[in-house]
Amino acid sequence: MLPPGPGLTATLGFLRDPYNFLDRCAREFGELFTVRVPGVAPFVFTSDPKAVREIFQGDPAVLHAGKANSPLGAFMGERSVLFLDGDEHLHDRRMILPAFQGERMRAYGPMMRSIVRAVTTQWPIGLAFPIYPVMRAITFEVIMRAAFGLDESAKASRLKDLIARLFALYSGRLASLFQLPAFRLDLGPWSPWGRVVRLNREMEATLYAEFARRRAALEENREDILTMLLLARDESGAPLSDAVLRDEMITILLAGHETTAASLAWAIYRLGQHRDVAHEAYDEIARLPDDADPSAMRYLDAVVNESMRLSPVVPNIGRVLQADTKIACRELPKGVTIAPCIYLMHRRADLWPNPDNFDPSRFIDSRPNPYSFIPFGGGTRRCLGAAFATYQMKIVLSELIRGFEIVGVENYQPRPTRVSIAIGPSEGMPIMLKSRE
Ligand code: HEM
Repeated sequence: MLPPGPGLTATLGFLRDPYNFLDRCAREFGELFTVRVPGVAPFVFTSDPKAVREIFQGDPAVLHAGKANSPLGAFMGERSVLFLDGDEHLHDRRMILPAFQGERMRAYGPMMRSIVRAVTTQWPIGLAFPIYPVMRAITFEVIMRAAFGLDESAKASRLKDLIARLFALYSGRLASLFQLPAFRLDLGPWSPWGRVVRLNREMEATLYAEFARRRAALEENREDILTMLLLARDESGAPLSDAVLRDEMITILLAGHETTAASLAWAIYRLGQHRDVAHEAYDEIARLPDDADPSAMRYLDAVVNESMRLSPVVPNIGRVLQADTKIACRELPKGVTIAPCIYLMHRRADLWPNPDNFDPSRFIDSRPNPYSFIPFGGGTRRCLGAAFATYQMKIVLSELIRGFEIVGVENYQPRPTRVSIAIGPSEGMPIMLKSRE
């Protein structure tokens, strides 16, 4: 028998108000509970670090993450690393991993910084404005340049424009519904899914033309992700096919910018609420040179971690069981999705004293436990872009803190809500800035 859990109507809350829903479940059912969604096999949520260790160290042939992620395949394409399992997953993950390894980040630093600086010069001073859309614009520009090494040419802006329009459809009101096959009906160019299908076709043709152009004149010293993926070979010497390359690139673009933008918006909100923390972060940044490497930003690193602890933009992950499996002494049947709950794990009072307090000092001089601090998931499925995301967050926040004081907007309390593939703030997160000059 599965552990008890909320009824179907309560589960609707998971779509509308995810953190609140999870808090209520934890209060009522504890660290293990079952969530049922009509037409889908049950999800067993766990926030027990012992269970999460077993899951992250477990057999990937039994614990399928790709299948658990499959609702997002409608947006990203089903042949990318996010949706594969078993040997196929390891094969592709090995091929794309080098593009994301920690030391690669330094190549992206100056580009990230110049994008942020260009944007900050236009920020209004002393007026409330929504910071979340600005963060999305920054992270989109960053990932497009990192992925394609794009210049300012017309071809580059056409590709950017197509991808931006497609992603706007993915993050619109219907985005959650599009995850269900029944709502993916192409009823002509004016129907919601019909628009997605047509735009996708156009984007694909442009993308394939770009692959062909790059392949014809491959410059091995280029530092963008596409070049690295075009050069990647498996042990038999085979490259990634165009179809796989298409899906990997779209996954990287979408997974890479929405999540980072939402995480940045939450971190900026916390800094606006906690002046003492913002001061300490400024003191650190002011001591460092203008172009300091983020590895020198120890306190800011703790701020980023603490913000992702309190507001994990991916609230849970999943593994679909391919066989009856014992996890934390409990027998679970084949077909069920075991779902490590990032949000509830990060709020456990026994692991995080005063769990609701924003206190970056808990991350100073301590290595986070990989089974209880899990904003990027873990095991063989840990987020490939974790180093990229934290590097970028520290660059954006350091530029912001160096130039401005963040002031919270009176009476504004953000409500965590679903935005595309992440949990973002309601109403675009208005903030106010004071110039430090
Ligand atoms: C703050 C920002 C981000 C957060 C919170 C985040 C979170 C996650 C999580 C929770 C997973 C699933 C891990 C699991 O199932 O154990 C994941 C997977 C993944 N993420 Fe991220 N991510 C972020 C940024 C990025 C970026 C910047 C990229 C790429 C540039 C990226 C690419 C991926 C990919 C390719 C996977 C699939 C890995 C696999 O299945 O082997 N993510 N991410």
